[in-house]
Amino acid sequence: MATAAPERTVKAGWWESFYQGLTYRGYEGHWAWIFHRVTGLGVLLFLTLHIVDIFLLTLGPGVFNSLLALYKAPAARILDVFLLFGVLFHAVNGLRIVIIDFWPHATRAHKAIFWAEVAVFLIVFVPSALVLLAPLFGWGGGAQS
Ligand code: HEM
Ligand code: HEM
Repeated sequence: MATAAPERTVKAGWWESFYQGLTYRGYEGHWAWIFHRVTGLGVLLFLTLHIVDIFLLTLGPGVFNSLLALYKAPAARILDVFLLFGVLFHAVNGLRIVIIDFWPHATRAHKAIFWAEVAVFLIVFVPSALVLLAPLFGWGGGAQS
């Protein structure tokens, strides 16, 4: 007599629900979706701050230039790398979504397309991040301030 496989039960506690929500499927498409949402909202947050900082120009060059000192701080370079990550991931992953929207057959190769996206992302991200971080390691002969 064949016994039925035990069904995966949904546990009641908030932690279990939260955990199951986080690990839903858990494959490439799931993580791409989470990162797309987080990076989209992150870039939107940056854009809001950025419009405020550009608005400060209207208060005169003194105010704006003193703000630029903030952007030259080492911590700002690290935040720049996060911004690069967010903008680049959202852009490349967005193009993957557009490809799948226009050519639904592409879903058959969706994992290959995802890994191709990761390759394109890394080829652009790694050297660009190194350029951004170079002054922190004293590379580049102090050409950048
Ligand atoms: C190269 C430029 C961009 C491309 C190709 C792109 C592509 C996309 C696509 C295709 C979606 C829909 C995702 C889906 O169907 O699940 C999306 C969602 C979104 N995008 Fe973009 N986008 C770009 C730039 C931006 C920028 C500059 C921002 C913020 C200022 C932004 C914020 C968002 C947000 C908040 C969502 C909603 C995410 C969600 O519902 O999970 N995007 N983007
Ligand atoms: C660290 C990277 C960035 C730097 C250093 C930067 C710098 C600037 C500067 C100097 C301006 C003023 C240009 C002018 O009026 O002459 C500007 C305007 C603007 N930037 Fe950026 N930007 C950066 C990233 C971004 C990103 C990622 C976005 C989009 C998500 C963006 C969107 C805009 C917009 C919309 C304006 C016009 C704002 C306005 O007129 O109120 N910027 N940026």
